[in-house]
Amino acid sequence: MLFVVKLGGSILAEGPSSELVTDVKKLLGEHKIIFVHGGGSEVTGIASKLGKEQKFIVSPQGFRSRYTDKETIEIFTMVMAGKMNKNIVLSLEKQGINAIGLSGLDGFLLKALRKKRLIIIDERGRKKVIDGGYTGRIIEINTDLICSILKNNYTPVITPIAISEEFEPLNIDGDRTAAAIASNLAADKLILLTDVGGLILNKKIISEIKASEIKPLLSEIGHGMSTKVHASLEALKKGVKEVIITSDSGKNPLSSALNRKRGTVISLE
Ligand SMILES: Nc1ncnc2c1ncn2[C@@H]1O[C@H](COP(=O)(O)OP(=O)(O)O)[C@@H](O)[C@H]1O
Ligand SMILES: [Mg+2]
Repeated sequence: MLFVVKLGGSILAEGPSSELVTDVKKLLGEHKIIFVHGGGSEVTGIASKLGKEQKFIVSPQGFRSRYTDKETIEIFTMVMAGKMNKNIVLSLEKQGINAIGLSGLDGFLLKALRKKRLIIIDERGRKKVIDGGYTGRIIEINTDLICSILKNNYTPVITPIAISEEFEPLNIDGDRTAAAIASNLAADKLILLTDVGGLILNKKIISEIKASEIKPLLSEIGHGMSTKVHASLEALKKGVKEVIITSDSGKNPLSSALNRKRGTVISLE
C-alpha cells in the first residue's frame, strides 16, 4: 500500500522520534511511504532570532496562517527546506532508510498559483483585503517524479514550498499539501501525525467519524486541527479512502494507527 504521512511541526522540535522511525523502517518492508513535513514553530523561532517577528492572519473561514512577505519566505525556505527537511532525512538514514529530501521547487514537484490578495479578519473583527505575499494554492504535482523516486526504493521527504508561475517560492500549507499529494498519487491512506491523539470533540478523542458527520461540527474545531480536518475532507473527496489523525508518541505510532488502535479515522461513508 501507499501511505502519505504528514509529520506535524509540533512533533519535530527534536526531529522525528526514534519509535516512529523504527516503525517506519518496519512498514517499509511491505509498503511505500511519502513524507510531508511541517515546521512552522521552528520558522517562527528562528525568524524571531533574526529580528523578524512573524505575523499571523485569520481568514473569514477561521484558518490561521503565517503572513509570508519577501523576508519571511526566505527564512521559511532556509528553515523548512534546510534545517527541518535535512533533520528528518538524517534521522531516517541513520536507521537505514534511503530517504531523499525535496521541496516543491525541485523538479517542479509542486506548482502553485500565487494568491494575489487575501481576505482577513482584523483585530476588530472586520474583513480586510491585503496583499497575498508569498503564499499559494497548488495547481499541479509532478507525480512522475514522485513515482520514479518510489520505484527506485527511495523514501521522499517533501517540504511544503511550491514554485509559482513566476519562479518564486511560495508557502503552502503542509496538511493540504499532504492531502493533495495523497489524492494525486491515489494513496491508500493519509496519516496526519501531530501532538494530540486525534480529533477531540466534547473532550474526548473520536475514534471514527464520517465526512458527513464532521461537516456540521467544523465550527467547534479550533485552529491547527481545523486545517487538518479540511485537508482530510479534501483528500477523501478526491479518492483517498481513509485519513487518520493521531500523535507520534509511544511505540509503533504508525502501525497502531493503521491497526485502528489509536487516533481518529475519517472516512467518506
Ligand atoms: N477539536 C480539536 N481536537 C484536537 N486538537 C485541536 C482541536 N482544536 C484545536 N486543536 C489544536 O490543534 C493542534 C494541532 O495542530 P497544529 O498545532 O497545527 O499541529 P501540527 O504542527 O501537527 O500541524 C493541537 O495541538 C490542538 O491544540
Ligand atoms: Mg498545523
